[in-house]
Amino acid sequence: MTRTVAIQKQEAAEAAVALVRSGMALGLGHGSTVQFALEALAAKINSGELIDLICIPASKASEAAAKKLGIPLGNFEEHTRLELTIDGADEVDPEFNLIKGGGGALLREKMLAQASERVVIIVDAGKLSPKLGSQFALPVEALPFGWRGQVDFLATLGGEARLRTGSDGKPVLSDQGNYLSDCYFGPIEDLADLARQLEARAGLLEHGLFLGLATDVFVGGDDGVEHHRVARAG
Ligand code: A5P
Repeated sequence: MTRTVAIQKQEAAEAAVALVRSGMALGLGHGSTVQFALEALAAKINSGELIDLICIPASKASEAAAKKLGIPLGNFEEHTRLELTIDGADEVDPEFNLIKGGGGALLREKMLAQASERVVIIVDAGKLSPKLGSQFALPVEALPFGWRGQVDFLATLGGEARLRTGSDGKPVLSDQGNYLSDCYFGPIEDLADLARQLEARAGLLEHGLFLGLATDVFVGGDDGVEHHRVARAG
């Protein structure tokens, strides 16, 4: 049976929500695939199958969507350790490293992932890629102060950075009020080295390489959902 991308996303999201247990502190990512997870979660909360959840959303949009669906929200200052986070991704390589941030929520998404025992990624099969950077530009969040210099810096690393702008031509702001750039590297040969260089640069606040963070990846495809368990290094 041929499944549309939307059905692939929905089935991956529902499979991930099956891992949620009552009483969990849960991270909620951002994006259209996560929206399916929010709906599946809300159905289980409303039926009484799941109780006593505390959910921490990665973006203002996810917060608003969760509120509308009646999903109980908590405070990340209070709930610093999360049992599980469910999030989408833009590109996934064979080792289950990810590019994230197409929706602009990369900084908070990475904070939730680093605080989570289990990081459950939900994608449609079109997100799978032999090498990160082949299909998707790398999102980078930067302080507006001096951002043009960051574009030059990214060029020295081999990336062509384009500032994300809205239909009005103005920079798109992250939830923190920072600028977002999409950086075209092409297939990235040394992920860890690129990540290190980006992390060493003052004014670059976060990048969308999520290396070794996913513990589970649910891939929705034409033949249903595949669940990959990923061993974390160390
Ligand atoms: C949000 O900042 C991203 O990391 C999303 O997880 C990513 O863009 C996936 O989006 P979709 O689920 O809409 O494809």
